[in-house]
Amino acid sequence: MKLWGGRFRKEENKLMEDFNSSLKVDQRLYKEDIKGSIAHVHMLVQCNLLTEREGQDIENALLSILEDIDNGTLQIEGNYEDIHSFVESNLTQRIGDTGKKLHTARSRNDQVATDIRLYAKNKAFEVIASIEALQQSLEQKAKDNNVMMPGYTHLQRAQVVTFQHHLMAYYHMLNRDKKRIVKAIEIMNESPLGCGALAGTTHAINREMTANELGFSKPVDNFLDGVSDRDYLLELMSDFSIIMMHLSRLSEELILWSSQEFRFITIDDAYSTGSSIMPQKKNPDAAELIRGKTGRVYGSLTSLLTTMKGLPLAYNKDMQEDKEPFFDALDTVLSCLQIMSKMIATMKVNSENMKKAVKGGFLNATEVADYLVSKGVAFRDAHSIVGSIVIYCEDHDKAIEDLTMDELKELSSFIDDDLYDYIDYQNILNKGIKVGLLL
Ligand code: ARG
Repeated sequence: MKLWGGRFRKEENKLMEDFNSSLKVDQRLYKEDIKGSIAHVHMLVQCNLLTEREGQDIENALLSILEDIDNGTLQIEGNYEDIHSFVESNLTQRIGDTGKKLHTARSRNDQVATDIRLYAKNKAFEVIASIEALQQSLEQKAKDNNVMMPGYTHLQRAQVVTFQHHLMAYYHMLNRDKKRIVKAIEIMNESPLGCGALAGTTHAINREMTANELGFSKPVDNFLDGVSDRDYLLELMSDFSIIMMHLSRLSEELILWSSQEFRFITIDDAYSTGSSIMPQKKNPDAAELIRGKTGRVYGSLTSLLTTMKGLPLAYNKDMQEDKEPFFDALDTVLSCLQIMSKMIATMKVNSENMKKAVKGGFLNATEVADYLVSKGVAFRDAHSIVGSIVIYCEDHDKAIEDLTMDELKELSSFIDDDLYDYIDYQNILNKGIKVGLLL
């Protein structure tokens, strides 16, 4: 049953066999593996390395294996070393000796590299689609809630913004996340098939043909490189890590905003959970889980970076350890994007509480300084004057706009009646919108 049994005198130790097997993990590559093999067979026929008949028989059998796996009649199990061995063994069981010709001019090293590139590329498009779905949720929620809220720095109330503007910040982060993945796909889009184990093959094969059939832009330029790098997985996982960092920040805000301290939003019941002891509790678990899973994705990236860092060229079995972290990071980022999108689409925005929060905390202090500048005061002096206005307000428990003109004049002779309009929150926002800041 071993693909490589010929040079061995003894059976493989059972413990070693289990230790060596990656079938449980790499079985999800079966479609790509069969697709890659079919392209390889087409090429072998074209290059007269297989007869038409042989090619047809192998292709038909591979297609029947695919169908059987898809409809559940063939389970991917047994003590096979990996998905490649599983498919090839099945092929030979089905069509006998002809099946043994499939691996002509191919190694599992270029085969696995091809499979994982095909898989990663496909899934990267899925990640892009999930990012776009989340962007849509954010954009819609933003449009529906063009209401004022406090903007923060250091988590201290700073200046007035709109909830729309705040949500759209994440929309734009996700836009760059998308561009990064598009770029990663472009860079990884070369075919390693035909690199052989590490040094190509003496058979006159046609790598352009398989690259073309599999949808790659071209074959890789260097055999050793083609079979031995996994930088494309690392690049995608770096991109996933950045996405998770963005989702984690958004999660953190959802958690804060849904707390009794803020009460800016209410997360839908469908995406919250309760407490087994405290009957009143409604916890933002989905957001917390996304924040938590971020560490897991970073861990996967670090894991593969560390696996790869000391490997001599070309293929080393260490590289079989690429799949678990990659699949885990991929599954995690996909599910987090999906949940976040639903959570945003269903959350309720409590605009009254946001407005109330804007009123407290001197969010128009900067605009008072701007006003003084418009009256000819140097900004640094204006800054200092407003500082004393704020102290005065704190001492008298008032907002700046609630001070009387007498009080204001006392604080600065540059202040006139037109200050009230200048520092009105809605007017401030309108100005921001005019110059395009708050879109
Ligand atoms: N299961 C292996 C992997 O994922 C496939 C390649 C094995 N090649 C080899 N020469 N042992 O990396």
